[in-house]
Amino acid sequence: MLDDRVRSVLERLEREEPRPPGVPVAPATGRFLFSLVAPQTDCEVLEIGAGRGYSTIWLAAGVRNLGGRVLSLEREESCIADWRRNVAEAGLAETALLVEGDARETLAEIDDVFDVVFLDAANMFYEELFVLAREKLEPGALVVADDVILHADQLAAYSAARQADTSLLSLTVPLDRGLELSVVLR
Ligand SMILES: C[S@@+](CC[C@H](N)C(=O)[O-])C[C@H]1O[C@@H](n2cnc3c(N)ncnc32)[C@H](O)[C@@H]1O
Repeated sequence: MLDDRVRSVLERLEREEPRPPGVPVAPATGRFLFSLVAPQTDCEVLEIGAGRGYSTIWLAAGVRNLGGRVLSLEREESCIADWRRNVAEAGLAETALLVEGDARETLAEIDDVFDVVFLDAANMFYEELFVLAREKLEPGALVVADDVILHADQLAAYSAARQADTSLLSLTVPLDRGLELSVVLR
């Protein structure tokens, strides 16, 4: 699952200086995402905010073994070019697909159901993007949103709204920048 191609691209990206806007998740968060998806059969993942592919590679390496796929959304051209190069170099081009454009537009056009959503786009859009993604989730699906502690000034309201929603079970996990995990109950 974590073969040499995957490991060498991840290690290279971990050595690179983070370049906005595609700043990757922290390495432990990448490992956490891998651990969430790897045990699931045919796991369909939606990633909103793909950056240069670091989190995509963790997710795609995780789902590949049991037949899953990752659909990643990204709007920045420089990130898109790097994403394609990095994902291909990791040998995951058949497991992860990129949809180019603003996720507030592209997500509405996607007619799929997802098991796991990873939300890591511009914080100001989290609420709008969650609402769009929510329509594509069935009971048991999981939404993971990054940055909720680091950017609590912008995202405390996101966590509070998820935790107040009785159709979800939601908690904040204090790993790295803070992850809000929300499981769909109904
Ligand atoms: C924090 S970075 C993502 C890092 C990536 N998840 C990783 O760990 O490698 C956020 C990304 O979201 C993208 N983004 C922000 N708002 C977006 C939107 N509305 N639609 C699509 N992409 C967006 C940015 O261009 C940026 O690359």
